Amino acid sequence: MLTTPNMQMFKASADAISAAIRDAGLDKPALAVILGSGLGAYAASDCVTDKIHLPYREIPNFPTSTVSYQKGELVIGRVGEKTVLFFNGRFHYYEGWEMWQTAYPVNVCHLLGIGTMIITNAAGGINTDTLEPGDLVLLTDHIKLCADSPVRGRNESAFGERFFDMQAVYDDGIRATAHSSAGDLGMTLKEGVYAYMAGPQFETPAEIRMLRLIGADVVGMSTVPEIIAAAHCGMKVLGISCVTNFAAGVTGAPMTEEEVLDTSAKATNRFSALIDAVIRRL
Ligand code: HPA
Repeated sequence: MLTTPNMQMFKASADAISAAIRDAGLDKPALAVILGSGLGAYAASDCVTDKIHLPYREIPNFPTSTVSYQKGELVIGRVGEKTVLFFNGRFHYYEGWEMWQTAYPVNVCHLLGIGTMIITNAAGGINTDTLEPGDLVLLTDHIKLCADSPVRGRNESAFGERFFDMQAVYDDGIRATAHSSAGDLGMTLKEGVYAYMAGPQFETPAEIRMLRLIGADVVGMSTVPEIIAAAHCGMKVLGISCVTNFAAGVTGAPMTEEEVLDTSAKATNRFSALIDAVIRRL
């Protein structure tokens, strides 16, 4: 008999992973943060105390990072009074993971009782009227043209309903908190719509022209599968992009991973200050 991919097997793995994280010493987590390319420094900083480091390869059934510059570890720590989970390194579809595997951290967080996530990434800037490299952009929505979905297959009701609403996952209240936290720091945050492209190739100039026409402001190869899984689980999310480069065709300059990492490194202090202020205010 043919069956669809077994979401119950998936749930069993997610149960095992969340149990392993609890056993490592997790105490009532308030929220979780996924740190995108080049944005991992905050988890290592002194703002996070009482740290427990769990390399992904030591968590049973957890995927491992194959992206060289990502740390590939979970950091459990305290920020002020809050216990926070930091995923320092994420899983991308282009690495060969199934889309549901790329969203694993979100499902695990749901099983750990977490209802709020901050999901961050490096992205290319499409909307040149408002954005330039170095900008931090709060996501208001997304566009995904790739047909796959992290919740394709038999529905696992421990996570959510078969059909679910996508209109409230980018939570207005958390976004307002992020704006006021930025204001306290003397920073201005932009807002925009994120277009998901599967990668790993960067986009063509024609693809970027299309994405601009259909309303995208930034483009990247992550985040959206996680956001969909978060919506399935009924979570609230703050999405933050760091614009690391102009998208393909804007300047005609060659697109490189080096440029992405150089720009995110330059933004790291501002990004860390923002994350810190938001976590403390939430
Ligand atoms: N395209 C896709 N992903 C990215 C980009 C980009 O221009 N910059 C950083 N991640």
